Amino acid sequence: MIKNDLFLKALKGETVNRPPVWMMRQAGRYLPEFMAIREKYDFFTRCRTPELASEITVQPIRRYGMDAAILFSDILVIPQAMNIEVQMKPNFGPYLPNPIRNQKDVDNVIVPDVTVELDYVYQAIKATKELLNNEVPLIGFAGSPWTILCYCVQGQGSKTFDKAKEFCFTNPVAAHQLLQKITDTTIAYLKEKVKAGVNAVQVFDSWGGMLSPTDYQEFSWQYINQIIEALKDDAPVIAFGKGCWFALGEMAKSNASALGIDWTCSAQNARYLTGGNITLQGNFDPTRLLSPPTEIKKMVRQMINDFGKDKYIVNLGHGILPNIPLDHAKAFIDAVKEYNA
Ligand code: CP3
Repeated sequence: MIKNDLFLKALKGETVNRPPVWMMRQAGRYLPEFMAIREKYDFFTRCRTPELASEITVQPIRRYGMDAAILFSDILVIPQAMNIEVQMKPNFGPYLPNPIRNQKDVDNVIVPDVTVELDYVYQAIKATKELLNNEVPLIGFAGSPWTILCYCVQGQGSKTFDKAKEFCFTNPVAAHQLLQKITDTTIAYLKEKVKAGVNAVQVFDSWGGMLSPTDYQEFSWQYINQIIEALKDDAPVIAFGKGCWFALGEMAKSNASALGIDWTCSAQNARYLTGGNITLQGNFDPTRLLSPPTEIKKMVRQMINDFGKDKYIVNLGHGILPNIPLDHAKAFIDAVKEYNA
């Protein structure tokens, strides 16, 4: 049904002529056409208006022809729907004026009817599917429960997420209740996204690497695994844990279709830790897109050779940075399309 199904083939572990490619945070601030829309509408208006969200989603596909689109939205629409105020402050990032700090705060968090509260997301998916016209698959996503808790408790981005960790370590009962509420909401939400038309889902555990291996199992992985188990029959699930190389062995035993790898883990080590069978996605250092285009192309070819062309999805090791020149992003995508084994 979808004309370019390289991405879906790689998720199934099927043999391909070249691996598929997309970039985390590919719809965003390095694109002039995105900045033009950003000037006129604030962040959550862009998320909540299907015409805007769908247009922003297809912008990078039009310009570069990636093998998959990822819906323009944000992981923080989940806490918003759970009755937690989230603002996106220009030049600051997410800001939650009433962070969760105790049992009473957790009791006030609701598990919403996601069909109502997040209807605008499904409308954006439907609008995007129209624009994509079955050319490439569409990826839906959510933050991991741990990463969402980080923002809910810390109240903003952080280098250490010390308040989030303190809450988990001093009030584990309340922390687990919050994590479970986020997990239940996320599962219902992702199932609705699949119904609305996304072809795969990715769980972003952006701050999983903040936790020790033991704490990661307790506060992050068990909840991600619940999401994988709940979604596995609906759509392929990609689990991306930044800084979570230590958990790759455990993650590879799950029913995830693919695992995201960041750039601090070599391809060889990632294959070794995951047992060599599961599809891997990654792991170009996003800052390496500042290298000259000829060098980017060389490094991409090397990266594909290191991971192997099969059971592999070319991506960055984390989101693209706003200061990446357009022709450098193009070199990254073109290098993959020009790859022949
Ligand atoms: O991949 C895509 O382009 C799809 C859209 C997407 C956005 N956010 C749009 C966005 C996706 C997949 C996300 C996920 C997201 N959001 C994550 C997980 C991935 C990661 O980067 O670790 C996280 C942690 C967030 C929370 C968030 N949203 C932060 C920390 C910020 C501010 C810092 C930043 O990166 O700009 C946002 C805002 C945000 N989300 C922007 C975009 C394009 C920039 C703000 C703007 O456009 O006004």
